[in-house]
Amino acid sequence: MTQSGFACLILAAGRGTRMRSRLPKVLHRVAGLPMVTHVVAAAEAAGAARIGVVVGPEMADVAAAVAPHGTAMQAAQRGTGDAVRAGLPLLAGFDGPVLVLFGDTPLVRPGTLGRLVETLESPEAPTVAVLGMRPDEPDAYGRLIVDESGALQAIVEAAEATPDQRAIGLCNGGLMAFDGARLAVLLAALTDTNAKGEFYLTDTVAIAHAHGWACAVAEADTDEILGVNTRVDLAAAEAAMQRRLRFAAMRGGATLVDPDTVWLAADTRLGQDVTIGPSVVFGPGVTVADGVAIGAFCHLEGVAIERGARIGPFARLRPGAVVGEDCHVGNFVEIKNARLGAGAKVNHLSYVGDAAVGARSNIGAGTITCNYDGHAKHHTEIGADVFVGSNTALVAPVTVGDEALIAAGSVITADVPAGAMAVARGRQATKPGRARSWRAAVAAKRQT
Ligand code: UD1
Ligand code: MG
Repeated sequence: MTQSGFACLILAAGRGTRMRSRLPKVLHRVAGLPMVTHVVAAAEAAGAARIGVVVGPEMADVAAAVAPHGTAMQAAQRGTGDAVRAGLPLLAGFDGPVLVLFGDTPLVRPGTLGRLVETLESPEAPTVAVLGMRPDEPDAYGRLIVDESGALQAIVEAAEATPDQRAIGLCNGGLMAFDGARLAVLLAALTDTNAKGEFYLTDTVAIAHAHGWACAVAEADTDEILGVNTRVDLAAAEAAMQRRLRFAAMRGGATLVDPDTVWLAADTRLGQDVTIGPSVVFGPGVTVADGVAIGAFCHLEGVAIERGARIGPFARLRPGAVVGEDCHVGNFVEIKNARLGAGAKVNHLSYVGDAAVGARSNIGAGTITCNYDGHAKHHTEIGADVFVGSNTALVAPVTVGDEALIAAGSVITADVPAGAMAVARGRQATKPGRARSWRAAVAAKRQT
């Protein structure tokens, strides 16, 4: 059977009490995306033919996060074995290999899933394959009991383990692959007569062994199967994920001047010869084309930056911003839901929101699009080759035509036609000599 013929069941029904959160554990984010999304993405990338997620009651948000993949509900948390039983309807009509994953292990790699399936499909054709690891502190992990030949005989949960068994370093990473045709038989034989009164999925190994069905172990790196149970674990997973993303970005042809201070999202896409200064933060949904330079201390989310643009330092690009080729967006500039045409410049201290700026237009320092009237957002349309003088307020909705010119300090409340100049400010009054006479008058007053 080929790898494309396996299914993934992701267990996510646990409440995650140790997170002390109203949010279901698997919706806590790592690198900008919910943990369960990472697991689903790994299953997709590994080529799973079918993916199903087991959720608990009142977890509609989890179901929404994993859509279009199906979910099944485990009514009460009675253990990982019970959760897989609850998920069986999601596997209806499928009897190929079934991989069981946990929704709280966001670092798992697609290649590792593939390796576990390959182990199941090896000539020995084991009925169960388990991902093993050797953590520094095995504590609460299930211990893998193997015979002299390395064949897996049983998994003993930490709560049930004898002191000798607790001394075993090889632990259950939590990923298990099953011969789908035998899974239901194994699950039917589970009991809850153990320390926690739960149906342990891990007991399927001893049950298979008793049937004379072989079980195998494939070892993986500990950091990959780190399970998140607390917010301390969450921070550790984030750190590990960031290290991975930074390496991938650099290997992909981006320069990270100070990699440890750059925060990437799992879906950040960086082109070649992109340079990123220190302390830049990428939220979800950012695409950066080739040759873009992003200076220090920028914050970007939901943004597309086209080839050759220069951003920052200290720029904030918010969702819906599209920065065209060779644009310049400078310090203390915020762009939201706005498109800058090729070669446009917004270099200093501006807010451009709900707007379109045409090619080569220059937006002067301190320009603000006044997009919100207290009730609704309105659009500002600026044509190509427009010059907007410093400290201009554009009160939306408003349109400025191509090649128009707006004098500095204007408050623009009416459309400006193409080629026109608009001046919308008080006229300057200059009074010759008046400064001197005023100072003299003040000085005289002080002496009396
Ligand atoms: C489990 C394994 C242990 C392994 C460890 C690796 C069992 C019995 N033990 O222990 O051998 O070393 O993972 O991290 O499998 N879940 C449900 N419904 C339930 C219970 C759990 O959906 O009724 C889900 C949880 O949401 C979680 C996953 O299953 O995603 C694992 O559950 P958890 O309670 O964290 O298992 P561990 O005690 O960590
Ligand atoms: Mg766990």
